[in-house]
Amino acid sequence: MTDEERTAEPDRGSGEGAGDEPDRPYGAGSQAQEGPPGSYLTYASYLKIDELLSLQQPVSDGPEHDEMLFIIIHQVYELWFKEVLHEVDFAVKLLREDDLASAQHTLKRILTIMKVLVAQLDILETMTPVEFLTFRERLEEASGFQSHQFRELEFVMGAKSQWAISRYPKHEPALKRLEQRYEAPTLWDAFLLCLTREGYPVPRELLERDVTQPIEPSPELQEALVNVYRRDPALSELCERFVDLDEGLQEWRYRHVKMVERTIGMKPGSGGSAGAEYLRKTLFKPAFQDLWDIRGRL
Ligand code: HEM
Repeated sequence: MTDEERTAEPDRGSGEGAGDEPDRPYGAGSQAQEGPPGSYLTYASYLKIDELLSLQQPVSDGPEHDEMLFIIIHQVYELWFKEVLHEVDFAVKLLREDDLASAQHTLKRILTIMKVLVAQLDILETMTPVEFLTFRERLEEASGFQSHQFRELEFVMGAKSQWAISRYPKHEPALKRLEQRYEAPTLWDAFLLCLTREGYPVPRELLERDVTQPIEPSPELQEALVNVYRRDPALSELCERFVDLDEGLQEWRYRHVKMVERTIGMKPGSGGSAGAEYLRKTLFKPAFQDLWDIRGRL
C-alpha cells in the first residue's frame, strides 16, 4: 500500500471486527443477523422506511417529472406540522407547570423548525409555472387549504374559525381533532395563566374568556406586559419567543403568497379560493397583538 492509499483509507481501529463491514450490513457487533427476520430493530424497521418511501404516488401520466418534488415537499411539511403541534402541546403543558425555562427552550425549537418551513419554499420555487402546469390539472380540488394540521396550528395560536371546521366532511377523523382544538385553551391562554401566577395583574375577563373566540388586545394586559419587559428579564425572554413564533408564521404566509404569485399568478386556487388574492388577506395579522402593540413603549 502506498502512503497516499494509507491516508485515504478510513481509520477502522485495530479492534475485533475492524475492516469487515461489508459482511455486516446491520453494523459491526450487531446481533441482528442472528435472530429470525423481523425480530430485531434496524434503521429501516424502526423508521418504517419501506412504508415511507412507498407513499409518494404521482397521479399524472408519465408521471410528470416535477410531481415528485411537489408530493415530497408537501409530505415533509405535514411531518414538520406534526412535530410543531407536538412541541406546542408540550409548551402548553410546561407553561401550566410554570416551568418557564423549559417552555422557552421548546418555543425556541419550534421557531427553528419554522425557519426551515420558510426556507423550504425556496426548493419549490425552483419549479417554474410551466413545470407546475404539467400536472396541476390532476390535483383536482386538492390544496394546502385542506391541511387540517395547519388549521390546528392556527387554532392553537388563537386564530380559530367555525368556517374552517365546517369545510371538513363529517366522516373525516381530522374533524374531531379540529373540534378538540377549537374548544381547548390556546397557547396564549396558557401564557396568561402563567403571568398571573408570576404575580402580574392579568384582567379577569381575559382569564375567563371564551377560548373559542379571537384573542382581543387589552390595554390593561399591555400595561402588565410593559412591566414584564422593564423588570423581568427571564419572563420577557419568554415573551420574545412568542413574538418569534408569531413572526415566523406570518413570514411563512408571506413567502407562500409570493411563491403562489410567481407560480400561478392571479389564477384561482385548486381549493376553490380566489388564490393569491385570498391569501393576501391573511397577511400581517399577528396572533399575539398585545406583544406587538407595546413595542413602541419599551
Ligand atoms: C406550487 C405550489 C403551491 C401553490 C401554487 C399553492 C397555492 C395555494 C393557493 C392558491 C391557496 C389558496 C387556497 C386554494 O387552493 O384555493 C393555498 C393555500 C394553502 N397552501 Fe398552498 N400552494 C403551494 C404549495 C404549498 C405548500 C408546499 C404548502 C405546505 C404545506 C402549502 C400550504 C398551504 C396552506 C396551509 C394553505 C391555506 C392557507 C390559508 O388558508 O391561510 N401550499 N395554496
